[in-house]
Amino acid sequence: THVAVLMGGLSSEREVSLNSGQACAKALEGEGYKVTTLDVGRDVAAKLTEIAPDVCFNALHGRWGEDGCIQGLLETLGFPYTHSGVLASALAMHKERAKAVLREADVPVAESRVVSRAEAAKGHVMPPPYVIKPPAEGSSVGVYIVREDQAHPPQELNSADWALGEELMVERFIPGRELTCAVMGEEALGVIEIQPAGGLTFYDYESKYAPGGSIHVLPAPLKPNVYQLVQKLSLAAHRALGCRGVSRTDFRFDDRPEGTGELICLEINTQPGMTSTSLVPELAAYGGRSFGELVRWIVEDASC
Ligand code: DAL
Ligand code: MG
Repeated sequence: THVAVLMGGLSSEREVSLNSGQACAKALEGEGYKVTTLDVGRDVAAKLTEIAPDVCFNALHGRWGEDGCIQGLLETLGFPYTHSGVLASALAMHKERAKAVLREADVPVAESRVVSRAEAAKGHVMPPPYVIKPPAEGSSVGVYIVREDQAHPPQELNSADWALGEELMVERFIPGRELTCAVMGEEALGVIEIQPAGGLTFYDYESKYAPGGSIHVLPAPLKPNVYQLVQKLSLAAHRALGCRGVSRTDFRFDDRPEGTGELICLEINTQPGMTSTSLVPELAAYGGRSFGELVRWIVEDASC
């Protein structure tokens, strides 16, 4: 089987995707596949026609790679591809649109709304603490927390160089713990608690990808009923959005003594990171599957 690993791409998560792609390509070679890596650009259709792979392994993240665009192209060209299809990808990528589907499936989400960049920059869009995020980016790119004691939203929102869109989501900040759960087909693989390492305030880009940037606790130290609930909600989210293959759903859990006790789904990722510090490979290993076995399963699950 000849596998083309689609990686890089044109999004703000290009570097992450190059790392995911290299890691997956190496593991696929180890599994005996013939592997071609393809840094995805505007010429992707011509390149794929030339390579004519049996399967496309989608290791892209973010815009054009995770939002239904490449999926639509691959459907049109007729190449089987891994992970979610067009509709699930497009829905999951837009955090605000995804919430409508998640609410319908009784997956709890935080109150939020979409505002213009100018409104977000002015402030007073919601009582602090709240979070400002581009609705359709990943890896915490462009995410800001506005704290209670903060007079103004971040200056970056006014920047002439702002490249993350004119539409922003503002969302109630959920204090407490960060949890994540991977789903592989019909199975939840377990729950990790993420603790950003020294000095980092939340699971931001640096905390995600710098070695030692965060501590992963697996299995997450939760009461069994909460652990089970996280897995159940992740499966519900995966199914409600119509995801395929592997996904990863992120949560906040406010179990502070003075907290509300809420377990809130932040989002579902249809193209979860596959780098050396990434969570899905770690959860697969916890379930007894090597990285090689994981990528093999993903390839065998591909369709179009
Ligand atoms: N958006 C990054 C790659 C993730 O969810 O893992
Ligand atoms: Mg994400």
